Amino acid sequence: MQRWRRSLLYVKAIMMEAKQAKSIEWVGDLGGHVALIEQTLLPEKLEILRVTDVETMWKAIRRLAVRGAPAIGIAAAMGVVLAVRSGDVAGTRELLEQVHKAAEYLRTARPTAVNLFWAVDRMLRCAEAHSGSGVDEIRQALLLEAVAIRDEDAAMCRRIGECGAPLIGEGCGILTHCNAGALATAELGTALAPMYVAHEAGRAFRVYADETRPLLQGARLTAWELQQAGIDVTLICDSMAAVVMRERRIDLVITGADRIAANGDAANKIGTYGVAVLAEAHGIPFYVAAPSSTFDLELDAGGAIPIEERDPDEIRCGAGRRTAISSVPCYNPAFDVTPARLIRGIITDRGIIEPVTREAVLATLASRGS
Ligand code: MRU
Repeated sequence: MQRWRRSLLYVKAIMMEAKQAKSIEWVGDLGGHVALIEQTLLPEKLEILRVTDVETMWKAIRRLAVRGAPAIGIAAAMGVVLAVRSGDVAGTRELLEQVHKAAEYLRTARPTAVNLFWAVDRMLRCAEAHSGSGVDEIRQALLLEAVAIRDEDAAMCRRIGECGAPLIGEGCGILTHCNAGALATAELGTALAPMYVAHEAGRAFRVYADETRPLLQGARLTAWELQQAGIDVTLICDSMAAVVMRERRIDLVITGADRIAANGDAANKIGTYGVAVLAEAHGIPFYVAAPSSTFDLELDAGGAIPIEERDPDEIRCGAGRRTAISSVPCYNPAFDVTPARLIRGIITDRGIIEPVTREAVLATLASRGS
């Protein structure tokens, strides 16, 4: 068979499998495992990683096999279950100690996405709430809680999609940065959710995806997932964002977020702040899409958000080869903070916060249950 034909068939097979694959899910009962899409291999290979222990889950989060704020939260919650689901314990007290230990360990996997801390705290509250029960009951309750966190995320993403879809008019041009799609959440995504819902409604529009150096989440993940959904996507280098805006190809920018402070300042993948500045310079509305689990109301403003710094080799290497001398110093913050004043609105599962003020953020989040 000709080579191009073989690779076309291969791509088609990957796409069919991808439609069935979930970014992350718990398979089976307490004795089961976590199945997650190994995102470091995309788009060349769609492989499901089977995770059965908390150390492997910690590493999967750290090395970005599972990534995106909501997906990291789900992974951490399931990681707690993996840590305590079996083994001999003297009683409830020892089990609760194990839960706390696993929670502390998982908190160290990545610092910026607050969803990780939010999910781990929720697991701790669940364990404490069942402290009057037996060991088996607590283990079972923790599994149910982790699965609920996943299912609730899927529902929140759907609501974000429904809230944001009216912003996308027929023929609209949208720019997005990094990957805040189905791969980054339980289902559908945050920034990409309005696009999926508008697409379901039959509207035609074009998405420009920044490739998102250094780890290329836009190129590897966003372009891949939008294309397999049949959405018109054009990949650009990060440095082309200004030009596509000046050429009037962009009517709207939507990105995700990893942590949003009480005043609406939003941390997201490095480069997002630059895109927001460019959008302002070109008079283009810049929206952030995020579930309520991404807000950190304990932080007054974005300056307090911890920013992950990653290995300099992520910058020194690209496309599978060394692209800079190994001795050159690099600065590699993985996230930046976009100030609220540059954000036209925050699309949440509870409606759009617009304009973005502290009062509006607090009012929208006031009813948050957990
Ligand atoms: O380093 P990553 O790939 O985990 O960064 C992901 C992002 O910055 C996403 O935009 C954000 O987590 C929102 S995901 C719905």
